[in-house]
Amino acid sequence: MKKKQMKSILDNRPKLAKQVAEVAEVAGYLWQKGWAERNGGNITVNITDVVDDEIRHLKPISDCISLGRTFPNLKGTYFFCKGTNKRMRDLARWPMENGSVIRITDDCSHYEIIADNPVKPTSELASHLSMHNYLIGKGSNYKAALHTHPIDLVAMTHNPEFLKKDVLTNLLWSMIPETRAFCPRGLGIIPYKMPSSFELADATIKELADYDVVMWEKHGVSAVGENIMEAFDMVDTLSKSAQIYLTAKAMGFEPEGTSQEQMKELQVAFNLPG
Ligand code: 13P
Ligand code: ZN
Repeated sequence: MKKKQMKSILDNRPKLAKQVAEVAEVAGYLWQKGWAERNGGNITVNITDVVDDEIRHLKPISDCISLGRTFPNLKGTYFFCKGTNKRMRDLARWPMENGSVIRITDDCSHYEIIADNPVKPTSELASHLSMHNYLIGKGSNYKAALHTHPIDLVAMTHNPEFLKKDVLTNLLWSMIPETRAFCPRGLGIIPYKMPSSFELADATIKELADYDVVMWEKHGVSAVGENIMEAFDMVDTLSKSAQIYLTAKAMGFEPEGTSQEQMKELQVAFNLPG
């Protein structure tokens, strides 16, 4: 006898299904890259745009859970979130078993899970929701937030020299022109903070004013983008630059890097922010 398929919020909702499929695709890349040990990293996507009336009327499948603070711009918003303690490699294959859809309640300080399973969202929800709250506040069309643990970039944060403002940005930009072009706002640095803390969340959004990707010292990076693929691509591009730097060092020399003039030329040609 054929096994009965479980009902899913994705059924007959191609736009929502596409967003979740993209999250699953990126989750697979994170695992393949070696950036996602065990449950390492998390993804949230603001899916409010593709939520219909039927979803708005869905009964919660969890308690109403406090967020610990108020996010004034998130009233009635919906997010697909990786579950806490869930593996990226599992999210890649079974997104709705390893993530869930949450609704932020009208008081902006609680959430409830509405589908498909009562999977508790990531422990970095404070940072993720702070990022989304910040993005909505400034009228951005960015919908995705990614946190991941890239080996090369995290290793570089163990050198205090690289933690000085824009030292890593300039070094990584100078390794290959693509990084200057496709990560044009560079890499912000956040001194070590307790994972999952509001302190980390606050520091993250402060840096987002100037950067699309921020480094959490000795932990990982967080990136935002219009969609999850874009956020991933920026981290991937920075990681490629880090690889080039480390490969040159492993060959026994300090890489020369493109010059300030060459980077300036790119900035003008591609109309990039300064
Ligand atoms: P979660 O499993 O709670 O998403 O945590 C992973 C992580 O990377 C924490 O920083
Ligand atoms: Zn982490």
